[in-house]
Amino acid sequence: MSQNILTAHDLCKSFAHNGGQVHVLQHVDLEIREKDFTVVMGASGSGKSTLLYALSGMDKATSGQVLFDGKDLVKMKGT
Ligand SMILES: Nc1ncnc2c1ncn2[C@@H]1O[C@H](COP(=O)(O)OP(=O)(O)OP(=O)(O)O)[C@@H](O)[C@H]1O
Ligand SMILES: [Mg+2]
Repeated sequence: MSQNILTAHDLCKSFAHNGGQVHVLQHVDLEIREKDFTVVMGASGSGKSTLLYALSGMDKATSGQVLFDGKDLVKMKGT
């Protein structure tokens, strides 16, 4: 069986909006295995880009973890 390469655990992302908070990602759990072909679908504004930014390390989640090959993405250093 192929290896789990990307994992999101209890991922949350909120934005400040009009003096309040918009909770875009709420406790997302996700596992993507090596060689998987994965599609993210949803209505405009549902949080697809926000999810991809968090999974790719382009933005930091409010809470939760993203593991790439078992390593915490936020703690990884560039080379
Ligand atoms: N930097 C930001 N600051 C405040 N709110 C944001 C920010 N980025 C996204 N949002 C809000 O988060 C929600 C999700 O936005 P996102 O861009 O992730 O949706 P999307 O599913 O990619 O939409 P689309 O299909 O139009 O690309 C929207 O309500 C959006 O207004
Ligand atoms: Mg988008």
